[in-house]
Amino acid sequence: MSYIRPEILAMQGYVPGEQPQEGSVVKLNTNENPYPSSPAVQRAIGRAIQMGLQKYPDPMANAFRQRAAQLLGVEPNWILCGNGSDDILTIVTRAFVGQGDLLRLPHPSYILYKTLAQLQGATAEEVYFQKDWSLDDDFLRPKPRLKLAYLPNPNSPSGTMISPQRIREIAAALPCPLVVDEAYVDFADTNCAALVKETDKIMVTRSLSKSYALAGLRFGYIVAQPPVIEQLEKVKDSYNCDALSIAGATAAIDDQAWLADNQAKVRASRDRLTAGMRALGFATVDSQANFVWNPHHSVPVKPLYEQLKAAGVLVRYMDYPGWGDGLRISVGTNDQIETCLSLLRGMV
Ligand SMILES: Cc1ncc(COP(=O)(O)O)c(C=O)c1O
Repeated sequence: MSYIRPEILAMQGYVPGEQPQEGSVVKLNTNENPYPSSPAVQRAIGRAIQMGLQKYPDPMANAFRQRAAQLLGVEPNWILCGNGSDDILTIVTRAFVGQGDLLRLPHPSYILYKTLAQLQGATAEEVYFQKDWSLDDDFLRPKPRLKLAYLPNPNSPSGTMISPQRIREIAAALPCPLVVDEAYVDFADTNCAALVKETDKIMVTRSLSKSYALAGLRFGYIVAQPPVIEQLEKVKDSYNCDALSIAGATAAIDDQAWLADNQAKVRASRDRLTAGMRALGFATVDSQANFVWNPHHSVPVKPLYEQLKAAGVLVRYMDYPGWGDGLRISVGTNDQIETCLSLLRGMV
């Protein structure tokens, strides 16, 4: 133990949401898509298996890059792929943030950014969201050694968004690059991909885990200007995406009709869940993602999480000291949502 770096000994480590591997639970705790991915994904993975796995995969996942580039209206060298977008966030943090530096993130948001700063021996500075989930000018204030800022958009746990115009302002004022984490953006009305063309200070990350229903496959990517991508390439593992995930992810992004159909279903169910929670007295926030954030002003919510869990429905209980707590509930199928709501009706 004494040989371990002090930064690692001192940190807690990121704790992922519960992932029960057995039994039947209604799983609404880690924002997975409740539907199976496009059938084209299974076929593509089957073909890749038939071709054999004895060779290393394409280190840059070019098949995927080309399709994604076409969709985004950029050249493939604007894209770098990763083993889930968490891998991309790790690569970016390692590339920009060193020992003793400062990494900025909003709070409450995705806790992994803080863990990544700690791994680097850097300090994470959390800037609190306003009560309406907007960001005030503290987020854009220059500071010595500030090397990177993260902004999930839509944010988790709130599902709220900062407008592209405000993001443009934030990036212009910051003394460092801004990563806009768009893991949930396919469920939203807008996105920031176009801003990457305006400035090398804005980078956008995306995930296939949520909107393409591929959390188990592990595939994500970043869009940034080519000189940035060139540097990030040096930081990544040589073969950070395996042959099966490249085949599956490429087939998934090729099936935009599947995506459109899935988006429509998830958005409609999100409306149902939001209305149902509000009818139960929760102060549910309007969401642009595939989950909704539910504080309650008069009922303690932690016992509700526990009772739901005992009844086989897993949601995420989040408690942010100085901010408040709530239930973050992923948008499941209409049946799953109904199961959750009817249990809650008997509790509040
Ligand atoms: C805001 C945010 N960014 C990134 C991720 C990571 O996604 P991936 O599965 O692509 O690693 C998550 C996962 O929950 C998330 O909530």
